[in-house]
Amino acid sequence: MNYRHIYHAGNFADVLKHAVLARLIRYLQKKDGAFRVLDTHAGVGLYDLSSQEAQTTGEWQDGIGRIMKAELAPQVAELLEPYLSAVRELNPDGGVRFYPGSPKLSRMLFRPQDRLSAMELHREDYVRLHRLFEGDHHARITELDGWLALGAHLPPKEKRGIVLVDPPFEEDGEYERLVEGLTKAYRRFPGGTYCLWYPLKRGAPIKEFHEGMQLTQIPKMLCAELSVRSDRGVTGLTGSGLIIVNPPFTLKDELHVLLPALKDCLAQDRFASQRAFWLRGEATTAKAD
Ligand SMILES: C[S@@+](CC[C@H](N)C(=O)[O-])C[C@H]1O[C@@H](n2cnc3c(N)ncnc32)[C@H](O)[C@@H]1O
Repeated sequence: MNYRHIYHAGNFADVLKHAVLARLIRYLQKKDGAFRVLDTHAGVGLYDLSSQEAQTTGEWQDGIGRIMKAELAPQVAELLEPYLSAVRELNPDGGVRFYPGSPKLSRMLFRPQDRLSAMELHREDYVRLHRLFEGDHHARITELDGWLALGAHLPPKEKRGIVLVDPPFEEDGEYERLVEGLTKAYRRFPGGTYCLWYPLKRGAPIKEFHEGMQLTQIPKMLCAELSVRSDRGVTGLTGSGLIIVNPPFTLKDELHVLLPALKDCLAQDRFASQRAFWLRGEATTAKAD
């Protein structure tokens, strides 16, 4: 386990993932009933973007750095408000030095009745995450393999929830593991909303991954992808995708506002692209550019 999220915190992939996570949380909060966020690969929770690690890559500057400086159209600003208000709250003097990882973002958006279960397997990162939430009765932090949590920790006792699966993709077979993990989790908790992250990069088996997802027969799956540059001649991450199972009925329309705006703001060359479409369920046509 070599992956450390501090090198990537706040990058273009975090922006898409965290903006959507915040939309999912706000949607579940339209009803009074409590819910739980199960964050299977949680990271350390709070990132100092002035740290040597974050400065080494500077990835955040082309992610949250750009978003915080952008003049956003009112409709886009409204959709990003829950996410960006959390970032602003952590940086009361302006700028963006501190950045919330997914467990911290969830927690910041919670009402008194909402709960977090977060898993982190890297020893040092687990210790930091645990310390961040010390004494917080809304959060349960466990040093556990997140893939196991998809069995053992579902369904949540609240019977409502969001399951975020955000693995580091440092080993082969992670796309297949996502399909298997979702299949197992969905059997235990078919009413949950799932948000699965995956990388877009040169040679990634995206078509096979999508087909694998479709073969699960899970009825409602929305897909959102944002590429910030061409993958020609590049080996690293050029974009990212999310599969959202049981999405709020409002999410697809929101994505059709959000994704083009994120593309415009985060594009690194003229080949940047985005799309949102139903992998299963509703109509299966893509709207992209
Ligand atoms: C992409 S980062 C998570 C970022 C975080 N979800 C966020 O959005 O702020 C993936 C994390 O998963 C951890 N990890 C790797 N394998 C794991 C496993 N099997 N179970 C739980 N955590 C794992 C890594 O140490 C790393 O912190």
